[in-house]
Amino acid sequence: MMVRTAPWLLGIACVMTATAVAGQPPVESAATVPQLHETMIVPASEVIFNVGREEPTNSEQWTAISRAGVTLVEAGKLLMRASPPKDRSTWVALCQQLATAGAAARKAADARNLDAVLQASDRLVLVCETCHARYRNQGLQP
Ligand code: HEC
Repeated sequence: MMVRTAPWLLGIACVMTATAVAGQPPVESAATVPQLHETMIVPASEVIFNVGREEPTNSEQWTAISRAGVTLVEAGKLLMRASPPKDRSTWVALCQQLATAGAAARKAADARNLDAVLQASDRLVLVCETCHARYRNQGLQP
């Protein structure tokens, strides 16, 4: 196993070194705040917000909600690492709340608990709005 993975790891190491040499940012900070919104936050939150308009009726729909929750958990973690705005501690706390709301949605969907999904959805809206009021509309965005 070690022998098999070693060349693969070496390849990654070479890419990282080459990237560093070229003066590019490291892989961890590749996604910008708008990119994280476009790829993860907006599509995943739409799936969850949609529950308020249309009740899930089959297991595919519940699974989609659960997966959207997982996506938001990960989006929260990635957003935390996006280039730090001026007051970083509040940013991190809001990113954590995004992840928490995503985890609540996932748990609720896995339990097929509609009320709990709706609660997670309300919590999510609040996190989006709180962060936007502070960072997007105040010129503090990273
Ligand atoms: C931790 C802070 C934070 C959270 C949480 C957050 N956003 Fe944002 N959002 C931003 C910032 C900052 C911008 C402005 C980005 C820019 O233009 O550089 C933004 C921009 C947007 C945009 C504009 C389009 C775009 O792609 O940039 C949309 C739409 C949006 N957010 C939706 C949401 C929704 C829906 C949620 C909740 C599910 C959410 N955001 C959660 C910080 C946040």
